[in-house]
Amino acid sequence: MKKFYITTAIDYANGSPHLGHAYEKVLADVVARFKRLQGLDVWFLTGLDEHGMKVQQSAQKKGIAPQQFVDEIAVEFQDLLKSLNISNDDYIRTTEERHKTVVQNLLQKLFDQGDIYKDHYRGYYSIRAEQFVLEKEMVDGQWPEIYGEVVEITEPNYFFRLGKYQDWLIDHIKTHEGYIYPQFRANQVLEFLKEPINDLCLSRPKERLSWGIPLPFDDDYVTYVWFDAVTNYLSAVAPGTLENETYWPADRHVIGKDILVPPHSVYWPIMLKAAGIKPPGGFLVHGFWTTSGRKMSKSEGETVDPLDLIAEFGPDAFRYYVTREMNVGQDSDFTLEKFMTRYNSDLANDLGNLVSRLLNMTQRYCGGVVPAVQVSEEPEKELWASWDSVHQEIVGLYDGFRLHTALERTFQFVSSVNRYAETRAPWKLAKSDSPEDRQRLETALAAMAESLRLAATVLLPVMPGIGEKIFELLGSPAVSIWKGHLKWGESLQGKTLGKAAILFPKTRK
Ligand code: MSP
Repeated sequence: MKKFYITTAIDYANGSPHLGHAYEKVLADVVARFKRLQGLDVWFLTGLDEHGMKVQQSAQKKGIAPQQFVDEIAVEFQDLLKSLNISNDDYIRTTEERHKTVVQNLLQKLFDQGDIYKDHYRGYYSIRAEQFVLEKEMVDGQWPEIYGEVVEITEPNYFFRLGKYQDWLIDHIKTHEGYIYPQFRANQVLEFLKEPINDLCLSRPKERLSWGIPLPFDDDYVTYVWFDAVTNYLSAVAPGTLENETYWPADRHVIGKDILVPPHSVYWPIMLKAAGIKPPGGFLVHGFWTTSGRKMSKSEGETVDPLDLIAEFGPDAFRYYVTREMNVGQDSDFTLEKFMTRYNSDLANDLGNLVSRLLNMTQRYCGGVVPAVQVSEEPEKELWASWDSVHQEIVGLYDGFRLHTALERTFQFVSSVNRYAETRAPWKLAKSDSPEDRQRLETALAAMAESLRLAATVLLPVMPGIGEKIFELLGSPAVSIWKGHLKWGESLQGKTLGKAAILFPKTRK
């Protein structure tokens, strides 16, 4: 079976989860679920980035040990995953032994072969960003705000020879189509690589930063956070070793645009290349929610955190909204108004009503049992054609990460099913005594049931809970693999439908 290994960034454990964290998990989960439905052997990893200055400082401020601090934060992040119905197979925390061992083995190997060396570093250091920064990054004599306080320091440190592998990296990016999605991000990386890259300072003296993984060849130092963090992708699937494992390399690292250049696109592939380990299969780089950290205003003076909407409207509504609104790769705005419009119009009116209409009418006119398709007239032909166009595109859209378009097409189909119901108007046909009208009525209900089956099937990656619920109401188990189930005509004839249900209650609680 073909494998597919997908990861998310591991979140910084120095604060509570926010919309950006939630979105990235949903995005990776949609891809993971889609790949499973494609029949791939999927391994889905996410986790927490627990070392570094900020964590050390936050713990100090709270007067607790860093480990206790991150243990508490880990609970919050793991609760978020549960609340969003994320199907990750593993959760890695960088304070785990299995991770530390791999980081240390990797460092030792690179040190032994001469790719890590000791030198003096003199430069400007941003305490907030935990990195050395360059003078040329100053704007009008000021450091960019993201760096916070910047101090000048000189200290002996360890360096990783990045420059040695620069040409290899450029060639690798140029010769691997689709390696970085979207393509314009790959161009940004190549742009960055036009200048010679500096070697990476990968250590911090323990006296300044004690909360990190000690260098195996010099106990006075810990490793710098990025070297530690990116290695999680390897340590989770190859515990204790650097051997390639079943799932290696990762097929997609899902990350935000802020951490592509240089950590993921430069440090990480070069670290692997230098160690003789296969480089990543590819990156999926998403944009930013521009309102993520802030609270959205609900009405005068009242505010709502986007994450509160998960509990209020359910994980599927939240997953639907973020996937439908965000064109992967671009930035997007999260507003309560837009959320409510999508919820009310797409979910409650279009999808929810279709379900309750079908259940009600089948109960009333056919004793709750799906009848057979018996006629094929203009309205049926239009409906089948409408599915056909979705069918032809849908796999390509999911595969190409055009998830918002996949949902757009699916909901166009849902609308066309509602239009079909209006055109056929079974409630009018029910009043007729003609046997042809009875056949039309039964056909209409059978066609609506079949349409819902198809819509639920293609919605499973984004709305697994609702998808399964619809299958249950259709009297069938949800499909675990798409193959063979995307074609119109897998009759539900004879299935007993569930009792009328409201999938999306319309008013706010
Ligand atoms: N710990 C590092 C990643 C190490 S990966 C080996 C980190 N953590 S983070 O908590 O700051 O960010 C985690 C992920 O959330 C990143 O991919 C980041 O891009 C993403 N987001 C953070 N804010 C975001 C938005 N406002 N919108 C969308 N995603 C954003 O970076």
